[in-house]
Amino acid sequence: MCGIVGYAGRKSAQPILLDCLKRLEYRGYDSAGMAVVGDGVRVYKTKGEIAALESEMPAIEGTVGVAHTRWATQGRPTSDNAHPFDGCRNQVAVVHNGIISNFVELRDALVAGGHEFSSDTDTEVFAHLVEEELGDDELLDAVGRALKRVSGTYAFAVVSSGRDEVVGARKESPLVVGVGSGENFLASDVTALLKYTDRVIYVQDGELVRVTPDSVTIVDADGNEVEREAERVAWSLEDAEKGGYPHFMLKEIFEQPSAIHESLLGRIDAVEAESSFLNGSPFSSVKIVACGTSYNAGLVGKYLIEEFAKMPVTTQISSEYRYSAPARENPLVVLVTQSGETLDTIAAAREARRRGNRTVAIVNVVGSAITREVDHVIYTRAGPEIGVAATKTFVTQLIALYLLAIELGSQGKAITAHAKRSIISQLRNLPRAVQDVLNQADAIEALAGKYSGSRDMFFIGRNIHYPIALEGALKTKEISYIHGEGYPAGELKHGPLALLSEESPVVAVVAKDHTYEKIIGNISEVSARGSPVIAVATEDDTEIEKFADDVIYLRETSPLFSPVPAIVALQLWAYYLARARGCPIDKPRNIAKTVTVE
Ligand code: M6R
Repeated sequence: MCGIVGYAGRKSAQPILLDCLKRLEYRGYDSAGMAVVGDGVRVYKTKGEIAALESEMPAIEGTVGVAHTRWATQGRPTSDNAHPFDGCRNQVAVVHNGIISNFVELRDALVAGGHEFSSDTDTEVFAHLVEEELGDDELLDAVGRALKRVSGTYAFAVVSSGRDEVVGARKESPLVVGVGSGENFLASDVTALLKYTDRVIYVQDGELVRVTPDSVTIVDADGNEVEREAERVAWSLEDAEKGGYPHFMLKEIFEQPSAIHESLLGRIDAVEAESSFLNGSPFSSVKIVACGTSYNAGLVGKYLIEEFAKMPVTTQISSEYRYSAPARENPLVVLVTQSGETLDTIAAAREARRRGNRTVAIVNVVGSAITREVDHVIYTRAGPEIGVAATKTFVTQLIALYLLAIELGSQGKAITAHAKRSIISQLRNLPRAVQDVLNQADAIEALAGKYSGSRDMFFIGRNIHYPIALEGALKTKEISYIHGEGYPAGELKHGPLALLSEESPVVAVVAKDHTYEKIIGNISEVSARGSPVIAVATEDDTEIEKFADDVIYLRETSPLFSPVPAIVALQLWAYYLARARGCPIDKPRNIAKTVTVE
C-alpha cells in the first residue's frame, strides 16, 4: 500500500517520476504528490488519482525528486494529507509507505518546539524530524538520526534543497534501488522501474541508501557501508503493460495458460526425482496461513494435501494465526502470499519460526520480504500482477500447492508411483483446460450481462470446490461491488437461505464426484426459493441443465483438478459483471494490491 519513487539523474525528473508513479498506482490511488529539488523543494500534491496530479502540475525543472501515490491509513484522503511533506522551512521533502506508530508523542514534542503541521498524517513528523537534524550535515546522517526517534514500519524517500541525492530507508515496507547509467532510482516495486533499468538492488530491513546520478551507497543501521551487487530482474516491461487489453485484470486472466506452464516448468522433474527440500523433516501435520485470495488458495491446498498426502491440514487467516495459542503439534507452516509483503503474513511467518516450526513460503515476487523470513521458498512464476484483483497469482499458487501435496504424499509414501504419474499428467492438461474457458469469454460476458443488475449473489461449492466458491465471491464483490457470499453448499439451509429470492442469483460450482447428488439437492433447494442458478460444471455432466438456469461448461477434468478451470470461469464472470456495471476494474475503491499495515 502506497507507492513511493525517487529519481536522481541528469534528465528532467518530473516526467520520469510521473511515469514510475503510474506503474505503482495499484498500490493506492486516493491522492498523489511529487517534490522536485531546486533552490528549495517544490511540492505539488492533490486528492485523487495520479492523472489529477499530472493535469494540475505545472512543468517544473529539476533532475532530482520523489513522488508518492497514497492508500490512506492515518488521515483522510485529502490534498493536505497527500505526500510529500516538507516540514516548516521548505528544505526537505519526504514520502513514506508504512506507519509511524509513535507519531502522536513526536508531533506533540515538535509542536512544543515551534514546528507547524499542515496534515493529520503520521508521516509529516518525519519531515520535521529530518529538518531538525539536518543543519549543514549530510542528508543520510540526518535521516539516520531521525529514524532513531521513530517506531513503526517504513520505506522512506527523502530529498533536500540544493542536493542531487535521494536518501531512502526501509523497515518492513519494500524498497528497491534501480541502477541506471547516469541515473539511479528508488521505488516500492521493480515494476515501476522496468522501463528504465533491469538492474536492481533490494534494500534490506534496517538499511539506509543514498542514490545520486552516479552512485548508490547502502549503509546498515550502525552506519557501516554494505557491499551488494545489483541483480537482473527476470520480468520485462511488456509483462507489466496492458498489451492491448482494456484492463490488466483481463490480460492477467488470459496469461494463465502460460503462467501455469511456467510454474510447472522443471518442477515436475524434481517431483518425479523425489529430490524434495522436505526430506527428513519432522512434522506430521501442515498449517497453511494466508490472507484474502491467497487464503482461498491455501484452502484448496488443504483438500489437496489431505487427499494426496493423507496428512492433517489446518488453515488460518494470518491476522488470526499471529494471536492464536500455539498447539502442541509441530506442523510444517506454509505461508501463501503473492506479494510476499502482506504484513500479517510476514508476522505470521515470524511467529511460526518463534514457535520452532519449519516454514515454507509460496510467493510470486522474487526478493520480497517474506523470502527472508522462511526456511524454504517456492516461487509461483506468474510474472508481475498489476490488477488489484489476484488472478494468475491465485492459479499459480494452486499449482505450487498441487506440487507440494505430491511431494508430501511421496515423502510419506501415501501415493503410489502410478497415482503420481496420473496426477502429473492431469497437471500437464491444465493449460488446455484453462484455454478452453478463455475461448468462452464472449459467452461468459453475455451471461454476466444478464445478471449484472443484481445486488446480491451467492456462490456455493462442496469439498475442494468450496474454496472456489469463496474465491468467486471475493472476486465478484471486490471488483463489481455486487455483494457476493461464498458458502459450502450444505450450509445454505443453516441460515443464508433466509436471504434468497428471485433477485439473488446463486452460482454453483458443481463437480462430478462423490458430492454430486448433494449439490444437486442444494441447487434444488435454491431453485425452490425462486433464485436463478448459474452452474459451473464439466462437459460430462449431462444432467445439470435440468437443474440450473444457465451453465458454464468446463472441459471434462477430474474433480481434483477442476478448481483451476472453474476459477478462471468465475474470474471472467466477475470481470464482465464489473465491466457491465462500469466499475474501475483494476483499481477498485478502498483497496490496494498489497496490504503492508495490520
Ligand atoms: O499479496 P498477498 O497474496 O499476501 O495478498 C493477500 C490479499 O491481500 C490478496 O490476496 C487480496 O485478497 C486480493 N487482491 C484479492 O483479489
